[in-house]
Amino acid sequence: MKNKFLTLNSVAGPAAFLLCLACVAARAQTFDQLAPTPQMGWNSWNKFQGQVSEQLIRETADAMATNGMKDAGYQYVNIDDLWQAASRDESGNLLADRARFPSGIKKLADYVHSKGLKLGIYSDAGAKTCGGRPGSLNYEEQDAKAYAVWGVDYLKYDWCNTQGLQAPAAYKKMSDALRATGRPILFSLCEWGNSKPWLWGKGVGQSWRTTGDIYASFDQVQNHPGYKDYGVLPILDMQEGLRKYAGPGHWNDPDMLEVGNGMSVNEDRAHFTMWCMLAAPLITGNDLRHMNPETLKILTDKEVIALNQDKLGIEALKYSATDGVEVWFKPLANDAWAVCFLNRNKDPHKIAFDWNSEKVTDDVSNRETKFDTTAYRLRDLWQKQDLGTTKTPLNAQVPGHDVLAVRLEKM
Ligand code: GLA
Repeated sequence: MKNKFLTLNSVAGPAAFLLCLACVAARAQTFDQLAPTPQMGWNSWNKFQGQVSEQLIRETADAMATNGMKDAGYQYVNIDDLWQAASRDESGNLLADRARFPSGIKKLADYVHSKGLKLGIYSDAGAKTCGGRPGSLNYEEQDAKAYAVWGVDYLKYDWCNTQGLQAPAAYKKMSDALRATGRPILFSLCEWGNSKPWLWGKGVGQSWRTTGDIYASFDQVQNHPGYKDYGVLPILDMQEGLRKYAGPGHWNDPDMLEVGNGMSVNEDRAHFTMWCMLAAPLITGNDLRHMNPETLKILTDKEVIALNQDKLGIEALKYSATDGVEVWFKPLANDAWAVCFLNRNKDPHKIAFDWNSEKVTDDVSNRETKFDTTAYRLRDLWQKQDLGTTKTPLNAQVPGHDVLAVRLEKM
């Protein structure tokens, strides 16, 4: 009997070990492939802050599944802060706020999944979240297991109340805990760029916030005691130098979208287009249940979203800036390019862009334009019209706080 056991064990041992190595490798692969292109979805914070409930999440999932957003690629319905009860139970388990989420998170995840969508949730690396609810410090494994059991697909992990913690280690701890559950859970680092997460976030999570919080303003910064909120252009300016750190599976996150939250249509269009040019996660932040047609049109434009979801995953580079008009180039698959003229001025601005006297050299993607020898067809992505070719100069007018977004396809 003893011998038999020994024999079986000595055969099964190496086999099990190899199998285990294979399953670890497969798991690592699954995690690395969670966001081959920037994630797309919705999050409750920008519009609703603490006013989250299962009803809101259900209705948002209903809207996303039927209003064209799911079809355009949006997938995640994410609950931000204040979904939790004020404290853990006596065994340390996280609980959902009973009044707001009476059916619990598992039922909610089932519902969101039944719509062909995925559910995201929020926690914090400190002892408390920014909203003062229980954070995951010292409960990383227990919380990760709970998310997996509930069927959560996405975790946004914040950085409030983390005095004395080192961000790389704190995020790695939760990353490891999520992986250990075996459930593919996209990990979105929300550390506001404090410890340069672009230097260490790859392999830890699929995206990292690069700045403090956005708010629905085009060009302003709002001061609060101890922190600031940033409008679209200030956040855009803070992306300088970061494009080389992003790529398939690991994205710079300039924060969630404010489209539909009070800026003008032109500003919303410029904001959305630039987030697409930046290959940013497209996490909408408005009320999906009640949007005007212009907002929906912006959020679901497939040609503009295609820039964001381009499989090369290369962020746009700022090529020039003159009189408040910036020209951004984004290398796309199949030798195509996107070009975005961003008018930061309030007033309309005329542009005259003679392709033949311009040359883009991109050290990050090793791509360059050769407009003198290679001609491209131009497509105005928002107006849905062809604009001729790069053989002749482009003359156009860009409205104030707006963009002209053009796709260049090789002829
Ligand atoms: C921080 C984050 C926001 C949001 C709030 C919630 O400010 O940066 O995106 O999650 O916390 O309290």
